[in-house]
Amino acid sequence: MIESFEGKTAVLTGAGSGFGLECARIGAQRGMNLVLVDVQQDALDAAAAELQAAGAAVLARRVDVADAAQMEQLAADVQQRFGAPHLVFNNAGVGAGGLLWESSVKDWDWVMGVNVMGVVHGVRLFTPMMLAAAAKDPQWRGHIVNTASMAGLLTAPNMGIYNVSKHAVVALSETLHQDLALVTDQIGASVLCPYFVPTGITRSERNRPDTPAVQLTKSQMIGQAMTDKAVSSGKVTAAEVAQRVFDAVGAGQFYIFSHPQALGNVQSRMEHIVRGENPPDPFLARPDIGQRLREQLRG
Ligand SMILES: NC(=O)c1ccc[n+]([C@@H]2O[C@H](COP(=O)([O-])OP(=O)(O)OC[C@H]3O[C@@H](n4cnc5c(N)ncnc54)[C@H](O)[C@@H]3O)[C@@H](O)[C@H]2O)c1
Repeated sequence: MIESFEGKTAVLTGAGSGFGLECARIGAQRGMNLVLVDVQQDALDAAAAELQAAGAAVLARRVDVADAAQMEQLAADVQQRFGAPHLVFNNAGVGAGGLLWESSVKDWDWVMGVNVMGVVHGVRLFTPMMLAAAAKDPQWRGHIVNTASMAGLLTAPNMGIYNVSKHAVVALSETLHQDLALVTDQIGASVLCPYFVPTGITRSERNRPDTPAVQLTKSQMIGQAMTDKAVSSGKVTAAEVAQRVFDAVGAGQFYIFSHPQALGNVQSRMEHIVRGENPPDPFLARPDIGQRLREQLRG
């Protein structure tokens, strides 16, 4: 939990767009020093210019969060410029869909690299810095927020690769919360689980390091079209989600949801698990969508 953000330092990955950029904007309004991290140089430059103009002290670094050495250099640069960060937002992520067996090794390496190893590096590098700062000063407070997804609590079909990566982030974050509580009362953790919110996530391919060797498969194209539609029609904004992130950090709240009304599906999944029943029909509320997807995939 962080009660006052003024003069504190935030590290934000994926800061060039979407939730990362909106959180950086709130951080600037709250008087924070900002470490902006993104792999897309033009988006990073634009964010850095905007936030500097808003009065924030900014360190901007083009980093691929999946790259251990680049993340190690980032941590060293943050330590040197601002010292231990108070808020770490391990948020950079990419989306990919399609039937599980159609994801290539390169697809898995990319999505797991960014979505899972990006968070792993943020946690393994910044937590020790934060613990050292906390040990020196009993007033010091810090918080780590990892971005998962509702896909980390559900298992919607035709997006297995993303589901797997986000379930990993939920498990990592819950364990981080537990592990931190073993050793300190000064540093907390949260997990952000958004549902569909309009951002750049449906254009994740723009930052893929290798262009896919083969054309997208039919299921991948169908998955992309369904996600495009769901994300673009989302009513909650990225700015509203960012506000929820800051509220949660201020309140020491672990789970951060953009659409709490969607949690019925999580409850249903958990109830099926404890009753030992097979996973529920993911299209119970919208059978027409399930019917169309089956027809498209079998047609
Ligand atoms: N928008 C949604 O509907 C939604 C729902 C659930 C979860 N999420 C998650 O929210 C997080 C933020 O995504 P967003 O929706 O703001 O999308 P976005 O595409 O607008 O922002 C993601 C940012 O991450 C950056 N990025 C991509 N790969 C990177 C890498 N290897 N290293 C560093 N930066 C990288 C991109 O350049 C981009 O600026 C992601 O983890 C995403 O999975 C989004």
